[in-house]
Amino acid sequence: MDFNELYQIKDEFEQINRTYDIFNEDTRLHSKSARVEFLTTVKYVEKYLKPGMKILDIGAGAGEYSLYFAEKGYEVCALELADNNIAAFRKKIRPEHKIELTQGNAIDLSCYADNSFDIVLMFGPLYHLHNEADRQKAIAEAKRVAKPDAVFFFAFIGNDMIFITELNYDSDYIKTGDYDRETFKMDDFPFVFHTVDGCRKILENGGIKILHEVASDGVSELMAEKINKLDDEDYETYLRYHYYCCEKPEMLGRSNHLLFVGRA
Ligand SMILES: C[S@@+](CC[C@H](N)C(=O)[O-])C[C@H]1O[C@@H](n2cnc3c(N)ncnc32)[C@H](O)[C@@H]1O
Repeated sequence: MDFNELYQIKDEFEQINRTYDIFNEDTRLHSKSARVEFLTTVKYVEKYLKPGMKILDIGAGAGEYSLYFAEKGYEVCALELADNNIAAFRKKIRPEHKIELTQGNAIDLSCYADNSFDIVLMFGPLYHLHNEADRQKAIAEAKRVAKPDAVFFFAFIGNDMIFITELNYDSDYIKTGDYDRETFKMDDFPFVFHTVDGCRKILENGGIKILHEVASDGVSELMAEKINKLDDEDYETYLRYHYYCCEKPEMLGRSNHLLFVGRA
């Protein structure tokens, strides 16, 4: 599979499935720089997570978050669409993990009963759902299966930082990149990109009251080469710097990934 072949796939959900023939979710979060997103996200989940809580991980990928919380003894239901990610995830589940992994689509959570989960993670579907009706279906389904006082965690890819990230990889991106030359809206392929304000609107339309807006990886991908060379002590300091500023409003547009935490 290459990007041209992927582009030819007109069924949106088959296109999402095949996207992960190209992108390797199994190791995506393993370098020091990429780990910033994971550690920041976990830090916010752990602000609300209490023993005995039940977690739903929608768009669970190769299981990075589900497995982390299952290792800590939490009961996790994980839903994932892509064949490759399901296969990679399944290989890592051990008998002691209380993980129920289901292949399915975020817009239809009929495999779960109403009022079932304390913590709902949606780190993936909003990178892919192209139309607002589907995004609202995914949020409505997440709300339906969540308990009334559940806490929701939504991840988005930030439109305004992606331009800089792409430019950092390739200075020709200015001329050749797939973006609107007037508005700087990135073309929504193979991912869907949102401005900070756009994320707020989607969640507000879905009836989510926002508790935290977080620049979950900030400039970490841009700085990857330097961050990956840090020794453990300096990396801890980098993380403390990142945590210190990741909720500052002025940082939000300068992050590849955005984490929104909210309640229904
Ligand atoms: C970039 S990966 C992130 C995986 C993992 N949650 C993480 O944060 O590391 C996005 C994931 O969302 C999944 N996904 C996208 N749209 C989905 C949908 N409509 N239903 C279920 N999973 C979906 C993809 O298959 C992919 O595994």
